[in-house]
Amino acid sequence: LSKIAVLTSGGDAPGMNPCIRAVVRTALYNGLQVVGVRQGYQGLIDNNMYDMNNRSVSNILNLGGTILKTARCLPFRTEEGMELAYKNLKARGIDGLVVIGGDGTFTGALRFSKKFPDIAVIGVPGTIDNDLYGSTYTLGFDTATNTVIEAIDKIRDTADAHDRLFFIEVMGRDSGAIALRAGISCGAEAILLPEKETAIEELIVSLKAGHYNKKSSSIVIVAEGDKHGGVYDIAKAVEKEVKNYDIKVTILGHLQRGGSPSSFDRILGSRLGFAAVNAMIAGKTQQMVGLQANNIVLTSLEEALNQHEFKLEEDLMQMMEILSI
Ligand code: F6P
Repeated sequence: LSKIAVLTSGGDAPGMNPCIRAVVRTALYNGLQVVGVRQGYQGLIDNNMYDMNNRSVSNILNLGGTILKTARCLPFRTEEGMELAYKNLKARGIDGLVVIGGDGTFTGALRFSKKFPDIAVIGVPGTIDNDLYGSTYTLGFDTATNTVIEAIDKIRDTADAHDRLFFIEVMGRDSGAIALRAGISCGAEAILLPEKETAIEELIVSLKAGHYNKKSSSIVIVAEGDKHGGVYDIAKAVEKEVKNYDIKVTILGHLQRGGSPSSFDRILGSRLGFAAVNAMIAGKTQQMVGLQANNIVLTSLEEALNQHEFKLEEDLMQMMEILSI
């Protein structure tokens, strides 16, 4: 191993910058050269890369987004796209690639690595969705959840002042991880998750009970992957039955992806970046570095991708109704 490249791909996540910094400095410390790839896999195809040194990653620990930029790149899914990427990497003498992203990123990485096994590939789980097998937490999840909590606390102020019922949609794709944690943290009256079936009738009964029990405001968090057809449809269905509250809908949207990474994500990004380079130096490839029980653990990309089921914590699921009474 003599020269590695690093890229971020898919949805950006707070903590990607601390991770890039760790990759660059760990590699340089070990005598490797480092190349930064701009815009994820698109940069491999377009040959949009630059040599990085220790100063290339100065003062980025606190920055949201990713200094390398990111993209959801369709051409990399084609044979021609992968061949072009390989040619560009080889021309620069690159023999290792660290990819920071989610399952779409890993799918591309694994296909590429199977086609061109002479370039080592290590994945770092970077997505706010927390939906990857092999790491209890993904980069960005903690910051995004804190951002959501801050926003919902503010909504609670106004909901309470007006005695209103709010439906708030949060991100997470098919995962309810952000919704569940934000819901418990903000005392949401109900949390609708893709992982758990909740009948709208059941929701209506509990919201009516909340009013009867003198709740002044109510907040229902809806994970974007929830199966009821969207937050507006749910609000409409409830509005027909629940007359005591004025109903409002808020979709938090992309503000959830931004912001300065939390302490947790800065540490996690640094640990995972450090581990990714060390794994590569140890001769590993087609692996993902993750955090399990506060230890760094390697999982094969194959396994990380095939074990789609990311389980939410059982106790959190149980307490969500009990604590919000
Ligand atoms: O994977 C991160 C994520 O923010 C998801 O929570 C969301 O479903 C998706 O990306 C949105 O993607 P885009 O920014 O491309 O619209």
